[in-house]
Amino acid sequence: MATTKPWGGRFSEPTHELVERFTQSLDWDRRLYKYDITGSIAHARMLARSEILSVDECDSIVAGLESIDAEIVDGGFPWSSALEDVHMNIEAELTAKIGEPGKKLHTGRSRNDQVATDMRLFLRDAVDEQIHLLLVLQGLLLDVAEREAETPMPGVTHLQVAQPVTFGHHMMAWFQMLDRDRQRLVDARRRINISPLGSAALAGTSFGIDREFTARELGFDAPSENSLDAVSDRDFVIEYCSHAALLAVHLSRMAEELILWASERYRFIEIGDAFCTGSSIMPQKKNPDVAELIRGKSGGVVGNLVSMLVLVKAQPLAYNRDNQEDKSPMFDTVDAVTGSLQIFSAMLPSIEVDREQMRSAVENGFATATDLAEYLVGKGVPFRDAHEIVGKSVRYCIDNDLRLGDLSMHQFRQFSDEIGDDVYSVLTVEGSIRARNHIGGTSPMQVRAAISRARKRLEASK
Ligand code: ARG
Repeated sequence: MATTKPWGGRFSEPTHELVERFTQSLDWDRRLYKYDITGSIAHARMLARSEILSVDECDSIVAGLESIDAEIVDGGFPWSSALEDVHMNIEAELTAKIGEPGKKLHTGRSRNDQVATDMRLFLRDAVDEQIHLLLVLQGLLLDVAEREAETPMPGVTHLQVAQPVTFGHHMMAWFQMLDRDRQRLVDARRRINISPLGSAALAGTSFGIDREFTARELGFDAPSENSLDAVSDRDFVIEYCSHAALLAVHLSRMAEELILWASERYRFIEIGDAFCTGSSIMPQKKNPDVAELIRGKSGGVVGNLVSMLVLVKAQPLAYNRDNQEDKSPMFDTVDAVTGSLQIFSAMLPSIEVDREQMRSAVENGFATATDLAEYLVGKGVPFRDAHEIVGKSVRYCIDNDLRLGDLSMHQFRQFSDEIGDDVYSVLTVEGSIRARNHIGGTSPMQVRAAISRARKRLEASK
């Protein structure tokens, strides 16, 4: 037998069983129950203050909603997908529990403003948690950067050895990427934290409601300005999904570097056993699956952004049922990003850096060739000529299996008369790193200065 719908009055036939299954959103939106209850309590209090409900009715609604909350936590709540969504499930149970006043709760609101309110409350919490998780990860990156501020590694472009940098400098590059992600979330939060409640179905309501009150009760910065916009706007989800996609893409780049560095070819780092998995067939294997999954989950997060954009595209104002499909992209994005941030922070301290191995990689890749060119420029050689001279020297070294620093003065002089004995210190990895001594450069002094500026910024954001 079909359940009676709260909207069943104008219908003479029961809902088709397939329609019930197709239109229900309970499988996803029951996750919003806590916010739905909080929103309803604020709404009931506002109705009582505005003398639309009596104080007794309000008290009984609030008590009923609180007991429903406990029931859901206990797992004893009678969820019914015939009641479509989390909103109607809770309202129906409230009426079953407290009778008449339960039927009055929905005065002056609609599920259209209700669901938008629930989602904003949910997303505000999720964003706050992710901002916190970013601060934690950023703090851990600063610790590694500090420890490895003098550790040379090959800086690469095109995945070819380019110039020496320090591992600390590399960690600080990651820090900066995440710092922008965090700032974007902080900024998006301002637009999430607006109350749609009271916009009702689309036009507002004829009851004398107090939207400022519910906004305040729920910790929103202000009520929304336009009722049509408020019930149809999903910008806040799209904006979040967009920032989250960029954050996930950053995490995928970081994960990819860990995977490369941990590989047999590099052996720059070893990831702790607790954060790797083995192979069911090859006993020798230790695989960086956690990093790979962080890299992999970013795909879904990017997809969710596209889903949200296409969901909203060409929808006429105001609310359309299409919007019910916004739940899973939002939840999935939140879960993937929160999970990735948590595990990245757990894994990072397990990583051991092989300084020797990084050093020999930087020694072997002509990483100081640019230093030689800059040295020649210092002797008055135009940069383009210097570039040519060093190119020829490198070619000679490759043909004779030498490093630049192995060349004798006699050999150097074949390429340029300007080269003197002082060239050898310029060609050392330490000399190269120390020379890049300006804001944003890789010299240990600058890396330490960057870390201390970053620490102050993190402290100020806590
Ligand atoms: N479950 C819907 C959603 O998630 C909210 C209900 C609005 N339904 C409606 N027919 N106006 O968006």
